[in-house]
Amino acid sequence: MEGRVIKIAVYPGSFDPITYGHIDIIERASSVFDKIIVAISQNSEKASLFTEIERIDLIRASTIGYPNVSVDHFRGLLVDYVQEKKAQSIIRGLRAISDFEFEFRMALMNRSLNEDVTTLFLMPHAKFTHVSSSLVREVAKLHGDITSLVPDHVATAIQNKF
Ligand code: PNS
Repeated sequence: MEGRVIKIAVYPGSFDPITYGHIDIIERASSVFDKIIVAISQNSEKASLFTEIERIDLIRASTIGYPNVSVDHFRGLLVDYVQEKKAQSIIRGLRAISDFEFEFRMALMNRSLNEDVTTLFLMPHAKFTHVSSSLVREVAKLHGDITSLVPDHVATAIQNKF
């Protein structure tokens, strides 16, 4: 395979915390790309429950079965990080139409910042359409059952926060 370009994708997000929906996207992406970098960035508009290090640890433990997946964090612009990692693509999950407007604006902004970086959208399984980190945090805070939404080690980590 001499000369073949290694296909690397960055899957960015807040991952506060990682859910089964994220893991579904990681699994799909890992079968298409040679390497996936799950990259945490602090969304400046969101206060986070888990520290960056805690989120990295939770993602690492959740993706141990995928040898071509690594976990990292970045500051600054996503497109700059993608270029620094010699990746070609950004992966984002699209659950429903409600995700579309934000994702569309973000993809177009990233393209206007760097035309060489392509955003690809993947759909998780329909059973994860309603799963988001923010709802998982809210349900857990009110002592609801989150065991079908996140892996056990994530559920335990959330319960320890409240
Ligand atoms: O999981 P989230 O909160 O939807 O992820 C949003 C994230 C982290 C992907 C986005 O806020 C981001 O890319 N931040 C890095 C800064 C940046 O490049 N901003 C311009 C994007 S249009």
